[in-house]
Amino acid sequence: MRVYLDNAATTPMATEVVDAMVDVLQNHYGNPSSIHAYGRDAKALLETSRRNIARHLNCLPSELFFTSGGTEADNLACHIAFQNLGVKRIISTSIEHHAVGHTVEMYRDRFQVQVHYLTLDGQGHIDLTELASLLKDPIPTLVSLMHANNEIATLIPLDQVAALCRTHGAYFHSDTVQTMGHYPFDLKALDIDFITCAGHKFHGPKGIGFLYVNKRINWSPMLLGGSQERGIRGGTENLSGIVGLSKAFDLAYEDLQGHQTHVQGLKSYMIERLKAHFSDLTFHGDTRPEGSLYTVLNVSFPATEKASMLLFTLDLKGIAASGGSACSSGASTGSHVLQGIGADMKRPNVRFSFSRYTSKEEIDFALEQVFSAFAVALA
Ligand SMILES: Cc1ncc(COP(=O)(O)O)c(C=O)c1O
Repeated sequence: MRVYLDNAATTPMATEVVDAMVDVLQNHYGNPSSIHAYGRDAKALLETSRRNIARHLNCLPSELFFTSGGTEADNLACHIAFQNLGVKRIISTSIEHHAVGHTVEMYRDRFQVQVHYLTLDGQGHIDLTELASLLKDPIPTLVSLMHANNEIATLIPLDQVAALCRTHGAYFHSDTVQTMGHYPFDLKALDIDFITCAGHKFHGPKGIGFLYVNKRINWSPMLLGGSQERGIRGGTENLSGIVGLSKAFDLAYEDLQGHQTHVQGLKSYMIERLKAHFSDLTFHGDTRPEGSLYTVLNVSFPATEKASMLLFTLDLKGIAASGGSACSSGASTGSHVLQGIGADMKRPNVRFSFSRYTSKEEIDFALEQVFSAFAVALA
């Protein structure tokens, strides 16, 4: 048996998504910018997909800009903030995804933008009082805080941060790559400036996502070329990806509560069984259902002689999990997120991440393999 528990890195595509994409690839291959019938057909599919996604998020279709995924969308949000909105300071954390973290560092190092990293507690929570006090300084500011951390699952109170930013006139970008398709979003009510999406995190295709830009924001073209995506991002659209993304949205939101209950149930079950088996076991990040992303569980195992090879052992036993973000899969050290929350880096950690397709039988099998890996390691 092989069990895939690395859904935070990427998810398997839903069959319905594959079918929708194959249809586009075979039958709707026109360029949406062409004016003939093939082009008009492709354009209609493009705009129907955009409207469908906007309906799911309660925003305007014109507020969605398709990108090649989460990284590009996060980069674009920062570029717009600095190049169009005159931002001189960014407030963020040390545990953001590198798509944000490295972009912020680039603006700090090359353009002398002030960067302030919020203090985090041991579970990766921010302190809203600290944020409120920093925001009293009227310097033009972008706040960039991820909705849920991809390694330790801790959530931020998105609506409270958005309200604080609005009160103090700061721009707010949230990397919602891990939560899009997993929580409901009402963007009219939320009143945020930028959020981001990657289709492959919720059973859609890789290489497609979007940047949501609130209609209040004035921007100039960021990827220069054709006038696609209302000029902000030139380049022939990835139509099959966009149609697949739209289908992934339908599937994610048609029974969101059912998916949440199922996946949260698996996570809680795994927590209980792990706690019952190991006396010296902790978790990284918040594990409360209300404080953490239900698809991710980051376990800090007891440090034993062979436990540093835990991920490799699990892989050999058919369990695919990771040590953190996909770039550090296969290694259990070096996570900037774990460092950022002051974790004990000597203990081996494994991020297990689930999807609506994960079954209880698979969790039972994975647990057996974990227990036996430790039995061997301890022998
Ligand atoms: C929180 C977060 N942001 C951004 C990204 C980047 O998304 P993509 O791989 O689509 O570029 C990821 C993917 O791992 C992520 O987890």
